[in-house]
Amino acid sequence: MVQLPFQRAIRGRLFWFVADPAHEGARAWRYIEDGMILIRNGLITAVGEAAVLERQMPAGIEVVHGGRNLVMPGFIDPHIHIPQTQVIASYGAQLIDWLNRYTFVEEQRFANPAHARTNATFLMDTLLLNGTTTAVAFGSVHPVSVEAFLAEADRRNARMVAGKVMMDRNAPPALLDTPEQGYEDTKALIEHWHGRGRQMCAIAPRFAITSSPTQLEAAGALAKEFPECLIETHLAENHAEIALVRELYPDCCDYTDVYDHFGLLGPKSLFGHCVHLGPRERARLEESGSVAVHCPTSNLFLGSGLFDPAGLRTAIATDIGAGTSYSMLATLNEAYKVQQLQGRSLSPMAAFFAITLGNARAIGLESRIGSFAPGREADLVMLDACATSTMAHRMARAQSLDDELFVLMTLGDDRAVAATYLMGERVVPSSIGRLS
Ligand code: GUN
Ligand code: ZN
Repeated sequence: MVQLPFQRAIRGRLFWFVADPAHEGARAWRYIEDGMILIRNGLITAVGEAAVLERQMPAGIEVVHGGRNLVMPGFIDPHIHIPQTQVIASYGAQLIDWLNRYTFVEEQRFANPAHARTNATFLMDTLLLNGTTTAVAFGSVHPVSVEAFLAEADRRNARMVAGKVMMDRNAPPALLDTPEQGYEDTKALIEHWHGRGRQMCAIAPRFAITSSPTQLEAAGALAKEFPECLIETHLAENHAEIALVRELYPDCCDYTDVYDHFGLLGPKSLFGHCVHLGPRERARLEESGSVAVHCPTSNLFLGSGLFDPAGLRTAIATDIGAGTSYSMLATLNEAYKVQQLQGRSLSPMAAFFAITLGNARAIGLESRIGSFAPGREADLVMLDACATSTMAHRMARAQSLDDELFVLMTLGDDRAVAATYLMGERVVPSSIGRLS
């Protein structure tokens, strides 16, 4: 029997970005009140007015109706930690203390493949329930943490990126690799997983405190050997961290210079936090095309500080589990407040650009995800701005798309995500994993 190609149409209120509203203003987005997306084998083949596309549509195609929901590209979270789903909401510590008291204890559990698999099921369900269809993730030091996550993503056909953290000092012995082991494990993961289905691998030296110079050199060698891979790490999150980096790398002029010294800056490099940067560091990050990843819920929760995006190429992320919500909507809510505290307002258009096309650009995947256009992968979310009584009550006063978006980002969370689609297929969360 001939296998017919999978086809589907999604009809509804479509909203997506084609450019950055900071540069293109109202030309940066498209809103179609009665729009249609045609999907074939998981890819978008056409997007436009339903009245027009309906006429071109082959007979017998299933049409899914979005109703009052806003249909947008799936959200992208460029900084999460796979082994920290049970670290979230750990009380009373700032970064270094938080790592030692909670995180490094929990991450040791990920030596156990069964635990890694159960966690991967939970994490994937939770991301998808929150409308996050792509994430860039740190594993634990154990390759199995990444294998379990990417295998689960592959099973669901979700596009995910992950790297095992390289760390060879300043952590419990059970969490340490060596420069050679970190290099070999990362290389083996890349060779097995990068480009398998929708899965991708990253190079992940955890941060300068837990990597010796020899290990950062090995990370630099991996970056040269696999230039197609993203690099993910942490930079300038907390004052005590920065002071320790200064002691550990006395020959470098600042924290950014440490990574620079080992060839780790560039357009593929994602630096989590970047809260406390000097002017030289900002200039060097910008010049190299590196990305500063704002993690607002995490920076507030750990008391790290207020991110200032000025002059930086940026992305925005949850940083689960120092971050306190899996929701990119809740993350925007906190990002708005962080900007307010610095005398600026994050506009709803800038905010929704950031979690879709903006983050797609930051991770180099804008030709595949983050927007609606022929050839793009059909990952999308349906957002209900009246999902809770608080939201519905406020929405009765909404006058514009901006109003609706601002309600979603200020009051929304997973409850506002009415449906998530991966490659045109509606996601049915498997059992939320049970973790001991
Ligand atoms: N710096 C190094 N590791 C981590 C981590 O796991 N979380 C955060 N927030 N910062 C880090
Ligand atoms: Zn992090």
